[in-house]
Amino acid sequence: MKLAVRIICIGALACALIAGGFADALAQRKKRVKKARSLSCSAGATTHLARYKVEKGEALPAAIAKPLTRKPGNAVRGLEAVSNPGKGNCLACHHVAKLLAKVDESDPESVKTYGDHGEVGPPLNGVGGRYSQGELRMIIVDPKQAFPDADTIMPAYHRRKGLKNVAASCRNRVMLSAQTVEDIVAFLEQLK
Ligand code: HEC
Repeated sequence: MKLAVRIICIGALACALIAGGFADALAQRKKRVKKARSLSCSAGATTHLARYKVEKGEALPAAIAKPLTRKPGNAVRGLEAVSNPGKGNCLACHHVAKLLAKVDESDPESVKTYGDHGEVGPPLNGVGGRYSQGELRMIIVDPKQAFPDADTIMPAYHRRKGLKNVAASCRNRVMLSAQTVEDIVAFLEQLK
């Protein structure tokens, strides 16, 4: 009799542990899915698309001469957006010497933020001298219009229609707000 009780007790304990484990695993899975969903749109994604007019540029066939916002761009915020993987993530494809210079080997956070530059696109050093403000704006808003012949892989950061491979949760959103585009333009203009 005693033995039977013990077996039942051990059995119940095992069941409780297994059930607990399942609940934990389920909760963790839910968390992961939620995180993946929230990551699938950039931290700067928004539904508001600014109106803009495309004109002819000098170095490029297209430019947006007028700023997208009334508030002028802030170059410091632009720098942050360029190096933030959740916003512009520009360093995934571009080398920017000015940001590499911010790496302090003794500070792992700075190495992580500014140290890893891709080479898929051209280095951005000097773009402020090569392009007008309106051309820089055009490149970020919709690079296909800036480089019509290139079949470019650079993402359109302020465009809603005609985008490919957009996660369902990001549909009808633009990757970066008009203000963040202006901030990035202000930062790029300083790269001379
Ligand atoms: C997936 C890779 C990728 C990402 C991410 C990316 N770019 Fe680009 N970018 C390119 C490529 C490739 C080109 C060259 C255009 C072409 O021929 O396709 C380019 C061109 C440019 C140019 C013109 C450079 C020149 O010298 O002609 C600028 C400026 C630029 N990108 C800025 C940015 C900024 C700012 C961001 C982030 C907001 C960004 N890019 C994100 C791939 C990328």
